[in-house]
Amino acid sequence: MDQEFKDGKDFPLFLDNNDPLGHFRQRFYLKKGTIYMSGNSLGLASIDAVEAMLNLIEKWKDEGIKIWNVDENKYLLYSSNLAKLMASVVGADPDEIAVTDSTTVNIHQGVSTFYKPTADKYKILVDDKNFPTDRYAIDSQVRLKGYEPKDAVKIVKCKGRFFDEDDFIEAMTPDVALILLPTVYYRSAQVLDMKKISDAAKERNIMIGWDLSHAVGAIEIDLKSLDIDFAIWCTYKYLNGGPGSSAGIYINRKHFHMLPGLAGWYGNKSESQFKLLQDFDHRKDANGWQLGTPHILSMAGLEGSLKLFNEAGLKNIRKKSLHITGYMMFLVDAKLTKYGFAIGNPREDEKRGGHVCLEHDESYRISLALKARGVVPDFRDPNVIRFAPIAFYTSYEEVYRIVEILLDIVKNESYKEISQKRNLVV
Ligand SMILES: Cc1ncc(COP(=O)(O)O)c(C=O)c1O
Repeated sequence: MDQEFKDGKDFPLFLDNNDPLGHFRQRFYLKKGTIYMSGNSLGLASIDAVEAMLNLIEKWKDEGIKIWNVDENKYLLYSSNLAKLMASVVGADPDEIAVTDSTTVNIHQGVSTFYKPTADKYKILVDDKNFPTDRYAIDSQVRLKGYEPKDAVKIVKCKGRFFDEDDFIEAMTPDVALILLPTVYYRSAQVLDMKKISDAAKERNIMIGWDLSHAVGAIEIDLKSLDIDFAIWCTYKYLNGGPGSSAGIYINRKHFHMLPGLAGWYGNKSESQFKLLQDFDHRKDANGWQLGTPHILSMAGLEGSLKLFNEAGLKNIRKKSLHITGYMMFLVDAKLTKYGFAIGNPREDEKRGGHVCLEHDESYRISLALKARGVVPDFRDPNVIRFAPIAFYTSYEEVYRIVEILLDIVKNESYKEISQKRNLVV
């Protein structure tokens, strides 16, 4: 699909008919009359994910406590079983991945494990545009070590619309002990050059972790070749694991000997776990960073949804994602910029993630007008509407229709009929 984009309502139909991933759309629960654009916040349910969830419920009904041991301890070892399905999605060995807890808990886990401040090297390097939970976790972790965030948290400020990787490298002074950055920015969709930043950190003997939440399932990631220290990610966005599905954590195998910053009995070696001894016998793989009993009701969706990723392949998913978001940007440029819209994400393929970021002074009211017309985008203060055409289930025809709806809303100024008063959740 390397042809130039064209305007007109036949062109998206042509693209849909020639979409090698088009058949996956039938595996998702799509709502009639709705165009779903929020798969970067909460991915849609697939038949496969729901089947895995129902299967788990049946096992619970039938087996009670024996559920842990059915199918060769499938649910007792659910984290490792799901890690096998997750491995190709993040480019790591299965034993370097645990599917456990929430993203925020895993940030605490990663930071508390790898942040070993000394008198001369005690700062954590972050940026000023990441999703705030990362910052809250880091501030609290430095406080736990007896430092004040205003001294020990070093913030790289975004100088323009996007970050320049060299600004992070310049900030890697000898007093920096650890870095935590997002791979893809949740608002601008900028993709940072993980290799450039990670290599620079390694050269300076600085530990580095990445938050892959907006990258995983959208762009290709090869943690093995990056050789970073740790990574964490959400599974309910592009991975379609379901609301609040358990998160992922990657621990580079060279660190398996370390003790987790936060320990719990599920991080104990399986052989001795049920001996319930008082001394922690640390399991020497990423599952040694689990805490308590796995939240299997929050993990089952992933068993189904990750199968789809292995079937489709990340390379093909990224290819379609770049193409369909490219098509959306083409239509925006052609039809909407004259009505005050601007594209807020980078233009270069290697620098943009899975969503299109549209800016407009009236974004809030326009996003509500879109909702009234059956489109589900999301709004981010102060002026951004995010659209995530998802490789698995968004059609080119839907993208075409959204741009037509937007055009109608701004041409007729129908958003002006909507109150400016903000809802609590947008
Ligand atoms: C970069 C990033 N990290 C973490 C989170 C959320 O963490 P949690 O799943 O713990 O709520 C988000 C949520 O959107 C995010 O964008």
